[in-house]
Amino acid sequence: AIERTFSIIKPDAVAKNHIGAIYNRFESAGLKIIAAKMVHLTKEQAEGFYAEHSERPFFGALVSFMTSGPIMVQVLEGENAVLANREIMGATNPAQAARGTLRADYAASIDENAVHGSDALASAEREIAYFFAADELCPRTR
Ligand code: CMP
Repeated sequence: AIERTFSIIKPDAVAKNHIGAIYNRFESAGLKIIAAKMVHLTKEQAEGFYAEHSERPFFGALVSFMTSGPIMVQVLEGENAVLANREIMGATNPAQAARGTLRADYAASIDENAVHGSDALASAEREIAYFFAADELCPRTR
């Protein structure tokens, strides 16, 4: 089915000028970018987005990293978009990421791992709504 998923290019990958290369991976895989913007998260925005991890030991480092510089946030649309994007990204820990995936190619560590992508349709809906108003999404008819 055609799905929408939420994607972040994290501060490390933006700083290394990998935005275009990462967008190319999405588009080459047939995913369409239907909304996008650059934002520099506040501490409150980062804590709210990652609220489900608030009790994890890495939460402080995660929030600190995600507010360390601008990020790109985008909505990707396409066949099986949630799983397709997870395959493009590779495993959360780049040491475990398959060859040719974004994390294998662009991530330095599990903390600075270049990209985020929704892990399920329900989280995709929540994450999209966290960053985009409904009228900021531009569904493609061609
Ligand atoms: P992300 O998909 O953005 O969701 C939470 C982030 O926490 C994750 O990517 C990792 O970059 C980071 N993180 C750091 N340590 C861990 C860990 N042990 N397990 C999962 N995520 C971690």
